[in-house]
Amino acid sequence: MSVSPRRTGDHVLSMRGIDKRFGAVRALNGVDFRVREGEVVALVGDNGAGKSTLVKILAGVHPADAGTIELDGELVQLSSPADAQDLGIATVFQDLALCENLDVVANLWLGRELIERGRLDEVGMEERTWMLLRELAAKVPSVRVPVSTLSGGQRQTVAIARSLIGEPRIVILDEPTAALGVAQTAEVLNLIERLRDRGHGVVLISHNLTDVLAVADRIVVLRLGRNNGEFDAETATSEVLIAAITGAFDPVRPVSPPDEPRAPVIPLADARRRVDGDR
Ligand SMILES: Nc1ncnc2c1ncn2[C@@H]1O[C@H](COP(=O)(O)OP(=O)(O)O)[C@@H](O)[C@H]1O
Ligand SMILES: [Mg+2]
Repeated sequence: MSVSPRRTGDHVLSMRGIDKRFGAVRALNGVDFRVREGEVVALVGDNGAGKSTLVKILAGVHPADAGTIELDGELVQLSSPADAQDLGIATVFQDLALCENLDVVANLWLGRELIERGRLDEVGMEERTWMLLRELAAKVPSVRVPVSTLSGGQRQTVAIARSLIGEPRIVILDEPTAALGVAQTAEVLNLIERLRDRGHGVVLISHNLTDVLAVADRIVVLRLGRNNGEFDAETATSEVLIAAITGAFDPVRPVSPPDEPRAPVIPLADARRRVDGDR
């Protein structure tokens, strides 16, 4: 699988003013979210903050009620998961959705099998599977064993490798390390860096701030369905992030009714000052 040369630094994805209601619940309220090529953006927030809803809109699972989504500067409609995939947005959901009884090759190519003269091109699929796994520096002992025999980290690797088959621009990972031990977590974090090296824009949803600080370039905080700060991972600290996630900033901001425009994003310097001022 070859990687086409990619420009870096451009926003490949731009979501603006995204609203989403479920009945009376306002899950997202004017959310902005952007991702560049070769950038790992962590999306963090407490339970119910709206992370999954934002990602499902991006994956074409839910339509947004309002707001715009641009890919490479062009407005797009994501009306179905197939739309999202066709536009180069790949999602690895938390349950991975692998077929336990099938081997690694079969899982990667399921539904997109390579055909050669009317027959499955097993050799071609196996070769390309190895190429991809090597590129990802993935530690999978064999590609001809059922997925059920693999460790949690290896399964995550297989699910991520599968998401790359169509060379997506954006890869979304929902809690990829939640169920993993220390060594396997390190492997998956490594893998995320390889994704960045390949030029994909990566969206990482995670509860683990250590992981987020280790691997992300930028960290976007959602709270109660709104943007509540955006941080450069090089300079952010868990204290600052926790304050943004839990709303330690809220008292210094005028309380606005739910239908007001969203609160401004808090610049990092202000966030620091406010947290330091609390001590
Ligand atoms: N399909 C749904 N039906 C009704 N309410 C939903 C649905 N999905 C999410 N919600 C609600 O939207 C809010 C945001 O949820 P979610 O996006 O799952 O947050 P997070 O992933 O950050 O924990 C929550 O209040 C949740 O209960
Ligand atoms: Mg969620």
